[in-house]
Amino acid sequence: MASTEHAVETRPGVLQEMARRHLWMHFTRMSAYEQHDIPIIVRGEGCYVYDEHGKRYLDGLSALFCVNIGHGRGDIAQAGADQARELGFFTNWSYAHPPAIELAARIAALAPGDLNRVFFTSGGSESVESALKLARQYFKLTGHPTKTKVVAREIAYHGTSLGALSATGITPLRQPFEPLTPGGLHVPNTNTYRLPQGVSEDWFADAIAEKIEFEGPETVAAVILEPIQNAGGCFTPPEGYFQRVREICDEYDVLLISDEVICAWGRLGEWFGAARYGYQPDIITTAKGLTSAYAPMGAMIASDRVAEPFLKGSNSFTHGFTFAGHPVCAAVAMANLDAFEREGVLENVRANEQAFREMLDSLRDLPIVGDVRGAGYFHAIELVKDKETKESFDDEESETLLRGFLSGELYRHGLICRADDRGDPVIQLSPPLIAGPEQFEEIEQILRPILTEAGDRMHVEGEHHGQGYVERRGG
Ligand SMILES: Cc1ncc(COP(=O)(O)O)c(C=O)c1O
Repeated sequence: MASTEHAVETRPGVLQEMARRHLWMHFTRMSAYEQHDIPIIVRGEGCYVYDEHGKRYLDGLSALFCVNIGHGRGDIAQAGADQARELGFFTNWSYAHPPAIELAARIAALAPGDLNRVFFTSGGSESVESALKLARQYFKLTGHPTKTKVVAREIAYHGTSLGALSATGITPLRQPFEPLTPGGLHVPNTNTYRLPQGVSEDWFADAIAEKIEFEGPETVAAVILEPIQNAGGCFTPPEGYFQRVREICDEYDVLLISDEVICAWGRLGEWFGAARYGYQPDIITTAKGLTSAYAPMGAMIASDRVAEPFLKGSNSFTHGFTFAGHPVCAAVAMANLDAFEREGVLENVRANEQAFREMLDSLRDLPIVGDVRGAGYFHAIELVKDKETKESFDDEESETLLRGFLSGELYRHGLICRADDRGDPVIQLSPPLIAGPEQFEEIEQILRPILTEAGDRMHVEGEHHGQGYVERRGG
């Protein structure tokens, strides 16, 4: 009998072969898979996913900081299916539909202060791109046409489209595509672990004011910052940082964009990261956890003040994407937020984040663990060659440590996390927000022996520093 169902390929090696031949994986050295299998994940349930051989993995990264509610939720899938049957698609270009309207109102109610206007996108880069374009057009409409530049931080990742890439501060991601959209400026990130000697933490915010002064305030449209900067390894803001940045933005009439592609939707125990650190942005960019990645969707949320000039006369924001506000994605987002509220997902993060942190801090006795930082369910472990001096690994050593050993070894032992060297080498952990002590223990049991072996392989010596590690733990 004819079936409309597509049968999943199960013949040994066939998926591998097809993937090698046809699938262009993102940010991936494809040649690495000439000798090794491509990890093929076929299903998920809660905090766990399963590969094509049926092997189980703890998803310590929520896929890519996005499956916040956990895997395999039939209710969320059902919401998408129901909406597809009712209205599979209509656009937000001059038309509206109930799922986008209801989701926009819901997001506005959750967002801080007067961030009441929601412009949907299909993902994070589109959200950032939209915010940068909005900032430019806002200043053109309000009589400041030369305000076009954006200040971002070194090593920060804000996406890959050419505008967003001009804000991204990771040189190897920028160089292949130069010349980029003009106007991307960079200041130091809040890496307090490597704060230059004799410099106070006030320097981080002051550097933004200095950059604006240097460029000329009449040329700067926006400052874009994550509540906690992911790339480089979960750089948290020092006390008062965002309050000072807010003052600077007000002083120079510059829009503050809070890039919450990762830090919203419970990742830090709040609906938005700005709420965790008590600041009021002019624009929030978000994606990922909005739908827990069950459907691709992002949003740019603008304040009433920023939206106002676009609502008058013949003005409009001359920008859009066909799929943005997709009804199926919006219905999925609604079901996801329903589940968050019904199941107390934010409360779970708040109740357990300390236990998560304590587990990670317990690894500080290992010679290779230099720093542990982050908040909520969003943390990084920085790996060092010498804990005493904080000496890091050079490029070749990082390559050997991360790609040559850690990434593969962690995966082989059933833990999905990220070994990253966009800044100094770090292991990033960002589990689904439904995780708890059982998963933390599992993470520790996999990480400890592997990081111990990594230290041995890299000849990181601990013995002669003795007690020092323990004494410095709190510092
Ligand atoms: C802070 C931030 N901004 C923007 C992006 C880009 O999002 P996307 O990959 O959905 O385009 C990311 C992706 O991780 C991100 O973390």
